[in-house]
Amino acid sequence: MKISEKIYTEIYKKAITVMDKAYAPYSKFKVGAAILDSSGNFHVGCNVENAAYPIGNCAEASAISAMIASDGKEIKVIAVTGYGELLCTPCGGCRQRIREFSALDIPIIVGNEVEIKKIYTLEELLPSSFGPENLK
Ligand code: THU
Repeated sequence: MKISEKIYTEIYKKAITVMDKAYAPYSKFKVGAAILDSSGNFHVGCNVENAAYPIGNCAEASAISAMIASDGKEIKVIAVTGYGELLCTPCGGCRQRIREFSALDIPIIVGNEVEIKKIYTLEELLPSSFGPENLK
C-alpha cells in the first residue's frame, strides 16, 4: 500500500481527536491512537484507566481492539499522540501488541497536540522481536 503525506495528516488528526476522549483521571495523561488497516479503514482508541491501576488500557490496545472488532486484519500505519514536548512513543507492551498485527517496516507516527514529531518503523522501536511466525 502506497502511503501518502495526506494519509499521514489524516491519521494523525484522528489520533489527536480521539485523544481528548481518553479516560485518564489518575495519570491525567491522555493518549490517542489511530490505525489505518490493510483494507483502507481507520480505527481509533484512547487510554481508559481504572481505579485498579494495572487493568487500565493503553490507547494503542484500544485501537487494536477496535480494528479486530471491525474485521480489520493488518495494521498498515499507526499514529500515537500525547500532550507535550516529550515524545509519546508506544510503551513496551504496545510495541509487542502492534507487532502481532503488522509488518516490521510499518510507520509509527508519534505526535503531540500540535504536530507530528517523529515517524519510526516498528523495527526501530522493537528490534529483534518475537512474533507470530516464531510459533509456526
Ligand atoms: N499510555 C498509553 O495509552 N499508551 C502508551 O503507549 C503509553 C502510556 C497511557 C497509559 C496510562 O493511561 C497513561 O498513558 C499514563 O501512563
